[in-house]
Amino acid sequence: MQTLHLTEHDAARAGDILRHGGLVAFPTETVYGLGANAFDADAVRRIFEAKGRPCDNPLIAHICDLDTLPTLWREIPDTARTLAAAFWPGPLTMILPRTAAVPDALTAGLDTVAVRFPSHPVAQAVIRAAGVPIAAPSANLSGHPSPTTYEHVLHDLGGRVDAIVEGGMSSVGLESTVVAVEEHRVTVLRPGGISPEMLAVVLDDAEVIIDPGVTCPVESAPRSPGMKYRHYAPLAPMTAFTGDPDRTAAAIREKIGMRTDCAALLFDEYDAPCSVVHYGGRADSLAQAHRLFDALRKLDDFAPTEIFAQCPDETGVGLAVANRIKRAAGFHVVNVP
Ligand code: TXA
Ligand code: MG
Repeated sequence: MQTLHLTEHDAARAGDILRHGGLVAFPTETVYGLGANAFDADAVRRIFEAKGRPCDNPLIAHICDLDTLPTLWREIPDTARTLAAAFWPGPLTMILPRTAAVPDALTAGLDTVAVRFPSHPVAQAVIRAAGVPIAAPSANLSGHPSPTTYEHVLHDLGGRVDAIVEGGMSSVGLESTVVAVEEHRVTVLRPGGISPEMLAVVLDDAEVIIDPGVTCPVESAPRSPGMKYRHYAPLAPMTAFTGDPDRTAAAIREKIGMRTDCAALLFDEYDAPCSVVHYGGRADSLAQAHRLFDALRKLDDFAPTEIFAQCPDETGVGLAVANRIKRAAGFHVVNVP
């Protein structure tokens, strides 16, 4: 299949392809997404094929106005309205019970559907041109780090999708915060650019809970099916080091010793005697989020036999950065006292 290269000026063309059942990857503020008409079960199934994604892992429906919500959700509780008013358009995905119009292929048979209203102007233009909600997982091959640039998408999905819209580097750099919304409880299933602290600030009437699967490996039947898969993984085995950055850097240097075959993923302030990829200042979780996935892909370029990574502490957006690094490490974590 020939993959068309589109730009931000080609939203109408992208919309056309989507309306006719095609697959179009496009930029969002979190990561690039691989889009299809969310109401077209065949088109949605094509997403799973192109990504090699397990079909029990449901997709997010992307919208560009709130008027579309009643076609997707049976009811919209006040808690969801509050979160939408505070964080949409933006990097928040909400899960609520779905209408009968939503195809099983999208939700992997679940009775709920995840919805997001992205803030990226090109994402909004593409969805508006399509005139339907757009199903869009991250536009990477299943298991690879999510794409934050056009080049990442082309590398993974070139020849497998109808078109890719180029639109610069994603600003947030990690996938959206995914929450299950109940009347008095909001459960974070996947942390992202909207931290649990930010959610709590706007909710008077609902508690914010972090699902255990965010910080620990899940054994069976997680609430978010995506949590059971090894994700964001560079090719070589990786170990994540948590604790004070001066100490984790020292522990990593000690681990490396005289070996030249390893690579290290470090905060900007540190170095090691091997291939090093930096991903942001030690106290700058927004920069870490923005650069992490590109850094994970760069680690592959060194073809190391083993990778050692500094992992930030889990406050604010650091929770999301640490979650992706621990998953990339298959939860192989060393706590440095
Ligand atoms: O930022 C994002 O969310 C990006 C961009 C493209 O918008 N999309 C994205 O989609 O990250 P994906 O498919 O890679 O991740 C969606 C996550 C998966 O972990 C999936 O299991 C979970 O959301 N999910 C989707 N629908 C769900 C549902 N009804 N119940 C529980 N988890 C759900
Ligand atoms: Mg993904």
